[in-house]
Amino acid sequence: MRCKAKRLKSGLTVTLTIPLTITTETIHVNTFRRLLLALASCSALLAGPALCRDADNPIPIINFQQRFLPVVARHGMIASPERLAAEVGTQILQNGGNAVDAAVATGFALGVSYPRAGNLGGGGFMLIHLAEGDRQTLIDYRETAPAAARPDLFLDKKGEIDRSLEFFSHQSTGVPGTVAGLLYALEKYGSMTREQVMAPAIALAERGLTVSFALNFEFNSRAEQLRKNPEALRLYFKPGGAPYEVGDIWRQPDLAWTLRQIQKKGRDGFYTGEVARRITAEMEAGDGLVTAQDLADYRVVERQPVRGRFRGFEIVSTPPPSSGGVHIVQMLNILEGYDLAAMGHNSAAYLHHLAESMKLAYADRSRYLGDPDFTEVPVSQLTGKAYAARQRQLINPDRATPSADIYPGKMLPGESSDTTHYSVVDRHGNVVSNTYTLNFSFGSHIAVPGTGMLLNNEMADFAAKPGQPNAFGLIGGEANKIEPGKRPLSSMSPTMVFRDGKPWLATGSPGGSQIITTVLQTLLNAMEFDMNIAAATAGARVHHQWMPDKLLVERGISPDTIKLLENMGQQVEIGNRTLGRTQSIMLDDGWLLGATDTRRPGGWVAGY
Ligand code: DON
Repeated sequence: MRCKAKRLKSGLTVTLTIPLTITTETIHVNTFRRLLLALASCSALLAGPALCRDADNPIPIINFQQRFLPVVARHGMIASPERLAAEVGTQILQNGGNAVDAAVATGFALGVSYPRAGNLGGGGFMLIHLAEGDRQTLIDYRETAPAAARPDLFLDKKGEIDRSLEFFSHQSTGVPGTVAGLLYALEKYGSMTREQVMAPAIALAERGLTVSFALNFEFNSRAEQLRKNPEALRLYFKPGGAPYEVGDIWRQPDLAWTLRQIQKKGRDGFYTGEVARRITAEMEAGDGLVTAQDLADYRVVERQPVRGRFRGFEIVSTPPPSSGGVHIVQMLNILEGYDLAAMGHNSAAYLHHLAESMKLAYADRSRYLGDPDFTEVPVSQLTGKAYAARQRQLINPDRATPSADIYPGKMLPGESSDTTHYSVVDRHGNVVSNTYTLNFSFGSHIAVPGTGMLLNNEMADFAAKPGQPNAFGLIGGEANKIEPGKRPLSSMSPTMVFRDGKPWLATGSPGGSQIITTVLQTLLNAMEFDMNIAAATAGARVHHQWMPDKLLVERGISPDTIKLLENMGQQVEIGNRTLGRTQSIMLDDGWLLGATDTRRPGGWVAGY
């Protein structure tokens, strides 16, 4: 077989002959590593994520000098935070479903197998690329504030924020959007029936699943708060209160019942009828605000994604009421003015420029971002090249500007105005990038009796008191104050990158305020530093959100680099938690290259 190296940084074209055949089955990392070792003879000649193939038997060769290798598949792939749900989605793809069918099936399955963030009671954003028509759309199924919500909902008599009310009460719950969002996606863009896409999740809930190390870890890490709610205690612990151990079978008959109501009756099976009655009964018992009318009134909104360009790439991401897409594009625009590759990946100079652009973006977030149906968000300004050029002038290349000296930018005159992510690609070239959440891991930690379902605490994403930080330390303004029917400002950022007009990368992450900077660095690793998607995923990350004035760095940024950053005035803190957790798929000439972020346990890439 003859094989040509396509992208050589040296500009040379090399022709090699390699006596090897492989099938087009999914090649998991170890198999792939062996394959790459077999190809070692050509490795020295390749630089960058070079692809090597011929027309008869194309084999992608990923530069294995990058230490991390993606999973490779040919026809369809899911990168998911949990294995069983990834396998559910892949099965749907293999049974002829498209990427939306698989994404919906995976969304319902994660509600069973990944209770910390997979959900029926939360909300999120689904970004879809439709191969037919070559267009993208964004399904906003973010929760809404109940009609009875008022701006001072979480303030005590002294006007201070009552954090336990904001985080762990029935009042912290917004009207759930997940069921409406997944069903909307299925009906409009899917090809299968509810019966088909929900059957695997129902089976998982009814027959039970084997508790993995990751699931046991998740129960244990939230045990104290979960045990405070009698229904959560009943659902997530054994009779007597002991945690489920690795290898135990965990069944969820109540959740199976709820899923069946939805499967039979569609959105009415959740938003009216017996499930709705059980939700509102729990709300009344706990002084919550969500009423039967709120549930019946919940609406999905289909929006235009936010778009931007970085060098030759097109970025398509999540619009308000998420802040993610706007600020990812804004920071890329600012950073485009520098030769980042020449600075070197994760060098002090690079991280300094990242941090300074992050501060500028998060300062703007605090002033301008909110639900676009309630407040005018200057999206085109914030994502414009002219605004970025002006903001770039504020960056001192040698010295950190204290956050206290940074203010939200003035708009240019003359112009208007534990979350979880998974990515899916099908054999037609449709792509889905979906992030959804209960907000905290296990949301409010309050379960609705008889439904197997947790309540979100998404109301905590509003600015409970404009100017004060929220649960993620984010400062929000009037644009994000609590108002009835309004969607709280999110950071969720399902994102896609297009190269030469074709989908090239789908990614996204959990992590609250850190989602935006996590996605940004993953994109830069791939676009600017030519990393394969596994290496781009694994690189150590940093995060700055303007306030507080500190640059969080993951372990993996070297002590020398940290010293240099500190010498420039950056206030560095080595985080004891990881920053984000991406699930990504790269599409390269018919090959699907997937990577789950190993920062947290349990992720899985499945494909065929
Ligand atoms: O919408 C948001 O931005 C938050 N509710 C996301 C929460 C989150 O990512 C928690 N996970 N680590």
